[in-house]
Formats: sequence, C-alpha cells, structure tokens
Amino acid sequence: MGTQGKGLAVVTGASSGIGKIYADRLAKRGFDLLLVARRKQRLEQLSQELQQKHGVKAEILVADLGNSADLERVSKALASDERITLLVNNAGVGELKPTTAISLDAVNSLIDVNNKAITHLTLAVLPNFTKRNSGTIINIGSILSFFALPMSTVYSATKAFLAIFTIGLRDELKDTDVKVQLVLPAATETEIWELSGIPVAALDPKTVMTAEHCVDAALAGLDKGETITYPSVENFGVFEEFDAARGKLFVAGQNGKPASRYNLTK
Ligand SMILES: NC(=O)c1ccc[n+]([C@@H]2O[C@H](COP(=O)([O-])OP(=O)(O)OC[C@H]3O[C@@H](n4cnc5c(N)ncnc54)[C@H](OP(=O)(O)O)[C@@H]3O)[C@@H](O)[C@H]2O)c1
Repeated sequence: MGTQGKGLAVVTGASSGIGKIYADRLAKRGFDLLLVARRKQRLEQLSQELQQKHGVKAEILVADLGNSADLERVSKALASDERITLLVNNAGVGELKPTTAISLDAVNSLIDVNNKAITHLTLAVLPNFTKRNSGTIINIGSILSFFALPMSTVYSATKAFLAIFTIGLRDELKDTDVKVQLVLPAATETEIWELSGIPVAALDPKTVMTAEHCVDAALAGLDKGETITYPSVENFGVFEEFDAARGKLFVAGQNGKPASRYNLTK
C-alpha cells in the first residue's frame, strides 16, 4: 500500500509522455505503482525516481502489449493482483498515414495495442473491482475518437472503439461504485508525434498542450466526478450536444421500416 493507502495503480505506457506524468501524479497522490511498457531501462529509472520522490513502491512489468503472449501474461498478473485499485489504459500507438499508404503491420499494431490490449486489461481488473464494488478505470482516447482526418482514419477508428467501449462500460457500471473515465486529449507534446510520422513541430503550437497540463486536467476532471474528460475543450456543452444527438439518433433508428425518403413503403 502507498503512504496514504490508495492501493496499486497500473499505468500502461508509463515509459514516456502522458503515462509517465500519470505515474508521477498518482504516486504523489499516494498510490503504489505498477508501470508497464516495453522499454525496461526507462521504467527502471522512473520507478527509482518515483520511489525516492514520493515514498511509494513502484514495480515494473516489461511487456509488449501488441504481443498476444505478453498481453496474456500482463492480463493474468492484473487479474490475480487484488491490490489494484486503479488502471490507466494509456499505452497507445499512433501511426498517421492515409489508409492507402498504411502497412498491414501498422494496422495490426494499432488494433492490438489501442483496442485489444485495453479491452483485455479492463476485463482482467473488472472481476475484482466489481466484487469489491470499488476501483477506477481510466482509458485514454483522443479528440480523434469522434473525428477522422485524412491521415488518421485507422488511428481514429481504434480510438472510436476505445471511446464506445469505455462509454458502454461506464453505463453498464452506473449503479456501482466502480468508476470509469474516458479522457480525450487533443494534440499533446509527447514522443508519439515523432513516431506517428508527423513531428510535433509541424503543428500549430497554439493547439498543442503539455503532457503535464493534460494529465492534471484529466485528474481534476476525475476528482470532479467527470466520466468524459476533454482536457482542452473550453465549452463542454459542445460535447453534451453531440452526446444528446447520439441518443436521439439511436431512438430515431428504432423504426422497423425504411425511411420515407427511400420511397419504398406505401
Ligand atoms: N500525444 C497526443 O497528442 C495524444 C493525443 C490524444 C491521445 N493520445 C493518447 O495518449 C496515449 C499516450 O500517448 P503519448 O502521447 O503519451 O505517447 P508516447 O509518449 O509515445 O507514449 C506511448 C506509451 O505507450 C507505450 N507503448 C506503445 N506501444 C506499446 C506496446 N506495444 N506495448 C507496451 N507499451 C507500448 C510506450 O512505451 P514503450 O515504447 O516503452 O513500450 C509509451 O510509454 C496514447 O494512447 C495516445 O493515443 C495522445
């Protein structure tokens, strides 16, 4: 247990960017940590730093979440660890290319890391969370969860899966004390941009947030009880309108016959 007895927080993709800041902020809040990513040296260094800085325990689990055997190993470790009180499904890949130019390997990696892994890891912690009726799952989506740019089609599709999965799970658990938060950052200054094929320097600096601001806003949102957090959206009413339209569209489809504009029904 951490110094303030918060239990164990699992942060995937803790070796850089948003995940690294989550690890720091959660340690500051008194969580012990389980840091997951591929780059062992970075995880070891972060673990040492956080233990010294915040006086918590920080374990590491080196794994490639895009690899089935590794994912199963991590899932089993999470499922059997009753200390876990919080999971941040943050690890993600972001290759940005038009669909005609993206390789099948990149597509597989996007789906495996951004979708399969977050689903498996969520399912791994859920039984203990629901049994105890406590616990928090934070899934990192994107402003591109509900929007596709010409070079982000596959990435956006994976983030759309993540968003609907998270919103659906939130609704399934609404009568429990298990918390689910979907975080939807816009452009944030991390290594993902270089890896995506578009350097962050190519973006309008006015549209780019620091990872620290992104995580601090997301955690402030969690503290306020938000289940959907857009760190950079000033007018949350824009999302509320969109969300209400989603519901209306679902109801409008419960019609049992083709719409009259198709002139098929007399
Ligand atoms: N930065 C943005 O503009 C932005 C905007 C919206 C959403 N997001 C989302 O925020 C999340 C974090 O990204 P970031 O911006 O912080 O990027 P980042 O600095 O590149 O961090 C990505 C993290 O994911 C880990 N990761 C990637 N592939 C992995 C794999 N196969 N197995 C295990 N870990 C893996 C990386 O660790 P290793 O390489 O050590 O494995 C790294 O720690 C992602 O889900 C991303 O889609 C980012």
